[in-house]
Amino acid sequence: MEKILVTGSLGQIGSELVVELRKRYGNDNVVATDIRRSIRDGSDVGPYEYLDCLDPHQIVSIVKKYNIDTVYHLAALLSAVAESKPQDAWNVNVTGLYNVLETARIFGLSVFTPSSIGAFGPATPSVNTPQDTLQRPTSMYGVTKVAGELLCDYYFKRFGVDTRGVRYPGIISNVTPPGGGTTDYAVHIYYEALSSGKYTSFLSARTRLDMMYMPDAIEAAIGVMEADSSKLLHRNAFNVTAMSVSPEDIAAEIRKSIPEFTLSYDIDPIRQSIADSWPDSMDDRSAREEWGWNPVYDLSSMTLDMLEKLSERITKK
Ligand code: NAD
Ligand code: SER
Repeated sequence: MEKILVTGSLGQIGSELVVELRKRYGNDNVVATDIRRSIRDGSDVGPYEYLDCLDPHQIVSIVKKYNIDTVYHLAALLSAVAESKPQDAWNVNVTGLYNVLETARIFGLSVFTPSSIGAFGPATPSVNTPQDTLQRPTSMYGVTKVAGELLCDYYFKRFGVDTRGVRYPGIISNVTPPGGGTTDYAVHIYYEALSSGKYTSFLSARTRLDMMYMPDAIEAAIGVMEADSSKLLHRNAFNVTAMSVSPEDIAAEIRKSIPEFTLSYDIDPIRQSIADSWPDSMDDRSAREEWGWNPVYDLSSMTLDMLEKLSERITKK
């Protein structure tokens, strides 16, 4: 990885991945791109370009301009947004990926593409979900994620494109708000715990889902891309997880620091039905064995760090 392009770089994951990639590979060697205009606030330390992944000519032009060899392809619509705009979700999540893979085929690029717990469905074993198992998702997001996993496998097998990826669980972070997913409650709950001391969850008390703190998510992306290719059997869709938690579990952990915190419920039927179709907990042994995946944060250490970082930010305002 010498010259890196990040698509969807202003989103929840991209905004932190770009910072870490620039630390490791140099500011000028990481080109951040998105369909939103970057806020030029003086904190930019590297190149930024407008890039719509639905336009293959724009992708080619940026790859040529910066002599790109690796793409972290993050541009996508998340599960709740995808369910409200299924046609757009298919376009962005599948056609956008296809455009990136075609460019990779022509220019010999390596490509990281995140899949998701959303690639599983109600017929998948929900506890300790195996790496290789039945995938019949019922949300449009899930349909696009399975299609993406298969496309990436195909481009590796058919054309030798170095495609890699992980199935992320819900990502919890404190820099950029999440972009419209089913697991967003697990981020909002921390902001609200500090600002108002209460939170109303749109998922039910005992909805258990895999989650991960952002520093581990960043390590997963870079880790799989830096792994020895000859050791990767699964390449494009490694189960990765750090914890399996419910709203009640997170609330109980928050109360260790904010005892007066209260949690109530106002269930959103669409996001609840998506969550009910996803696994409770994934088995991530393949990632651990094939490239040394080993998350640092659990619920307790993540909660302490989230509350500390968010308190600092709120105090500074
Ligand atoms: P996000 O919604 O926060 O960011 C996505 C970015 O893509 C946005 O900045 C948006 O402007 C951009 N975008 C949308 N359409 C585009 C287009 N046509 N061309 C270029 N950019 C476009 O998403 P995220 O949470 O950062 O997720 C990144 C990737 O990780 C996605 O593939 C997502 O499915 C996957 N993922 C995320 C999570 C999570 O909890 N955040 C979990 C599992 C998988
Ligand atoms: N956090 C993501 C979502 O809820 C999972 O892929 O959409």
